[in-house]
Amino acid sequence: MEIFHYNRDKIFDASAVVIFSRRLDVNEDYLLHLVDVEDKDKRFIKPDFKTRAHEVRSMFVNLHKEVLKDFNVWTDKQLYLNLGHFLLGAAAMGLDTLAMEGFNNKIIDEEFLLREKGFASSIIVAVGYHREDDFNKSLSKSRLPKNEIIERV
Ligand SMILES: Cc1cc2nc3c(=O)[nH]c(=O)nc-3n(C[C@H](O)[C@H](O)[C@H](O)COP(=O)(O)O)c2cc1C
Repeated sequence: MEIFHYNRDKIFDASAVVIFSRRLDVNEDYLLHLVDVEDKDKRFIKPDFKTRAHEVRSMFVNLHKEVLKDFNVWTDKQLYLNLGHFLLGAAAMGLDTLAMEGFNNKIIDEEFLLREKGFASSIIVAVGYHREDDFNKSLSKSRLPKNEIIERV
């Protein structure tokens, strides 16, 4: 039995569904592509900044791949930064979203040929407008108090 059936309607009824996927690998070609794009965008005000940026980025990639061995966790963290911006951006546009980790990654990866394309699904966001009978829409928000989550030193 599919354990994530509770998410089915949220996905099928949404206006748009975005699958946030992490890269399976960050190789030399991709790193060079990044600095080339940044170069075109005029990010490097001195010629050697491009080489330096490439070296530093390669060092971090190597650190997570070879030393810390947490490459997938590291790329997921970067993906979730994008997720946060996406959710805020959608809200600013008056759109409702629902972020979901409750799905079968293997099936989604296979269905969208993600692994063949060099990616793996991490989180799915349904985007659209809530239904009138959405039980959640009139519930008050629940957030931990600031003094519980922020420590001032
Ligand atoms: C990492 C993560 C995974 C989540 N997965 C699901 C999910 O699979 N299905 C679901 O209905 N809500 C899921 N949620 C909860 C919703 O995304 C959302 O946080 C919840 O509706 C409350 O949002 P609100 O406090 O802004 O109203 C998940 C939340 C997080 C942070």
